[in-house]
Amino acid sequence: MLRPLATKAESRNLTPHIIRHLAKQTPWSRYHLYIHIPFCAADCTYCHCAHTILKSPANMVVYIESLCRQADAYGALFDGTEIQSLYLGGGTPSLLTAPLIEKLLRRIRSRFRFAPHAQVDFEAHPASLNLHKLKTLKTLGVNRLTLGVQSLDPKVLKAIHRPQSIQKVYRNVQDAKRLDFGCLNIDLVAGLPGQTTQSFVSTLRRIIDLKPDVIHLIPLCDLAAIRGDNQIQKDIPAFLTRRHQMLKIAKDILADKGYARHGFEAFQRSKAGQNSQQDDYFNRGCSIVGMGLYAQTMLLPDFYARCTSFDGRPHDSYEFCLIDKTYALATYLIPQLLAGINEADFFRTFSANMTKVFGKELGFLARQGICSHKGGKWRFAGPKTPEGLFEFFSHTKILFGAPLLRRLRHVYQGFYKPDRAYSFQKDAFLKKMDDVFFANTLYDVGF
Ligand SMILES: C[S@@+](CC[C@H](N)C(=O)[O-])C[C@H]1O[C@@H](n2cnc3c(N)ncnc32)[C@H](O)[C@@H]1O
Ligand code: SF4
Repeated sequence: MLRPLATKAESRNLTPHIIRHLAKQTPWSRYHLYIHIPFCAADCTYCHCAHTILKSPANMVVYIESLCRQADAYGALFDGTEIQSLYLGGGTPSLLTAPLIEKLLRRIRSRFRFAPHAQVDFEAHPASLNLHKLKTLKTLGVNRLTLGVQSLDPKVLKAIHRPQSIQKVYRNVQDAKRLDFGCLNIDLVAGLPGQTTQSFVSTLRRIIDLKPDVIHLIPLCDLAAIRGDNQIQKDIPAFLTRRHQMLKIAKDILADKGYARHGFEAFQRSKAGQNSQQDDYFNRGCSIVGMGLYAQTMLLPDFYARCTSFDGRPHDSYEFCLIDKTYALATYLIPQLLAGINEADFFRTFSANMTKVFGKELGFLARQGICSHKGGKWRFAGPKTPEGLFEFFSHTKILFGAPLLRRLRHVYQGFYKPDRAYSFQKDAFLKKMDDVFFANTLYDVGF
């Protein structure tokens, strides 16, 4: 049963409102905290993360002040309840100076209680990371470091406008290993502008030689957002074939070198290697509370908000909506079908009967030979070629997408009463939800 979330009176003070909603919907013991640092030194043209160029170091100081203010307010509302994990993402958190990192993390630690083995993740760009910052992070309890490498090929780095020295990558990795963060993860992207299969494989082999605990192999997605010369957009099938080939080769190389796959993108070398817990949040049935500009809050099963104007006070603006539960479930289900999903697991996660909710759609996919159903498990039955995956996605898009989006609109229109205090551009937001939904499905192609 869906309830109205935003009424005219309540929407003036959305921040506590989100928290109140969380208290009602999710067991207090299970939520994650995400903090967004939106600043970057340069605009990599392939990037789809919410970011803004840092114009003056003073802006970082003001921003951290605002985050501290928000930490005070949220910490009081959460009243000492444990957070399962903390993720500092961006943008580029490593652009913060060591004193600012320290100020923020100390304030967070003083306002929130961390679960005993809470993962504390930090995203870093090689250009702004150094030994001093690494030592600060280590002292403050960061136990999972993500280094965004993307590529080691100077031609690719030039094509995506990413100033990055290869020597610096090596030095960062050596320093991080010496300090022993528990888990070192390196992000690589497959399908970047200017990237050939050979250059991608060469980067991958050099990174494997450095023995990080986890390698995230991320298929380039959100193609329409690529800035500058977007050759990829001109021939998407050729791009998909190329990207698929890269990922397929990479998967075999990684298996050969002892990296076991975890989820869609992560490959782990050892027990120490851990995927980010926040990547797994849907699987774990946990909510995420976001802090900072552009941070997203996702309160299962049905609430979504994203901060659009921020200074850590109640007048901050948010885009928000009630997500129809069925829509949320379909967003989860579609990529899961590629690897196979058990009805029992679905029930355990969502307390909903998968065949009752999606029986008609799944039956249709089975009749078309696109999915199989055996022993309570549903899975994609077609060939994992770009053509096979296209067929899968176009069917699921038609079956699940349009009706669910219509329902989402309906829910929104029924309950939201616009208020002067909030800039809420309904059409842009619904388009965004549409993009997120389908970008994610294209994103998770099985390889
Ligand atoms: C916030 S960035 C990482 C931290 C840091 N800003 C950096 O660039 O190293 C997060 C990750 O998103 C991934 N990413 C960004 N744009 C992408 C896109 N269009 N497709 C796939 N992955 C993307 C990159 O792998 C990147 O490491
Ligand atoms: S890849 Fe990282 S540094 Fe580059 S624009 Fe995106 S968030 Fe910023």
